Amino acid sequence: MAFQSLPGFRDFYPGDCAVRNHIFARWRETAVRYGFREYDGPPLEPLELYTVKSGEEIVGQLYNFEDKGGRAVALRPELTPTLARMVGARERDYKKPIKWFAIPQLFRYERQQRGRLREHFQFNADIIGEKDVGADVELVALLIDTLRGFGLTREDFVVRVSDRRVWSGLLRELGVGDERHAAVFAIVDKIEREEEAVTQKKFGALGVSSAAATAILRFAGTGQFEKAAPAEMETLERFLALMGHKGLDDFVRFDPKIVRGLAYYTGIVFEAFDRKGKLRAIAGGGRYDNLLKLVSGVDLPALGFGMGDVVLGELLKERNLLPQDGPRLDAYVVIAKEALRPQALKLVHDLRDAGVACDYALTAGKVGKQFELAAAFGARHAVVVGDEWAQGLATVKCLATREETKVEIARLAARLRPGS
Ligand code: HAM
Repeated sequence: MAFQSLPGFRDFYPGDCAVRNHIFARWRETAVRYGFREYDGPPLEPLELYTVKSGEEIVGQLYNFEDKGGRAVALRPELTPTLARMVGARERDYKKPIKWFAIPQLFRYERQQRGRLREHFQFNADIIGEKDVGADVELVALLIDTLRGFGLTREDFVVRVSDRRVWSGLLRELGVGDERHAAVFAIVDKIEREEEAVTQKKFGALGVSSAAATAILRFAGTGQFEKAAPAEMETLERFLALMGHKGLDDFVRFDPKIVRGLAYYTGIVFEAFDRKGKLRAIAGGGRYDNLLKLVSGVDLPALGFGMGDVVLGELLKERNLLPQDGPRLDAYVVIAKEALRPQALKLVHDLRDAGVACDYALTAGKVGKQFELAAAFGARHAVVVGDEWAQGLATVKCLATREETKVEIARLAARLRPGS
């Protein structure tokens, strides 16, 4: 019986791993440049960590089970509750603002569709302990520069920003009580993917009057207010002005349709999309000032975002921004005289010790075959151990140009090291 991977789970063959490593390297490099430190948590957590605060959608997608000790546990569907738990437990050990990042693998039992799998890797960057909108600006700047780090430009993506406080101000004016705001956000979050009649029906079921529902839809579509803009609009305006000071205003756009699907957000929220709007969100996040208190009892403001590797990978592929498969070995040692195998083994070991990536045929084989393997394994040079070995020399052949030179054995490492 031939086994297959489970639906929504990926095999990473070496070429896929190269792409994944490229993405992780850019994520790490940008985060470190912004002064963020890397952390991680466990992939398995108590089920309750998610049922309390993440919101129904994600809870419906949990991979959960009872472990052998009778505990209700779940594979992590997101990292934010873990971060809230970890920071809450050791908050005093760290100067504020805490700026941390992580690259966890996450698991969600989703309905499979383009850009959505049942496992994905997600770059998470969060700032904890700063209330001011300056932190929101810093975080969104990191998001933009992370995408720019892959070679994407303002023509390729846009960050759509809104503020749940503005929405709450508007909803109060429309007579929709605070206890129904989370449910309204869950409906607004799906507006773009659903027929208007379905959305209207959902508002009806929630007890929102049809006049209020119409005003909500108008605001979502146009950003226009019925009456004066709520006072809460001021923070968002400051946010946009500060993004302008950073020279990044072309990358952001106020869009009230962005409210986010997760339950814990409390302020500015945002999602990054490809400009053509063909793909699902590349990244999403926002402020969640109450989550730490709820999870850990420690009252600290917080904000962050998550960027998945799936949609980002699709966009980079489409824009031709994935790395080409380059040479993987500095040298392949070709053993032209089998009697010289002992010397060749020593040479390979010495070269590796000196930092040269090299390989060789593990058993005797024709010289032509060994050259074929050198090319197939992506070597820059072939080093031939043959007749000239007795004179203290080896032939180095550049596989791209076919140029050959004789090099003293003692100088081989310096000649073959990467960058030489
Ligand atoms: P999220 O919007 O659920 O937020 O996920 C963030 C990003 O992860 C999405 O925009 C998408 O690129 C990717 N993603 C999510 N689910 C999948 C999936 N099933 N398959 C492929 N990619 C996926 C969060 O998870 C928040 N915890 C982010 C956050 C951090 N908020 C504050 N700090």
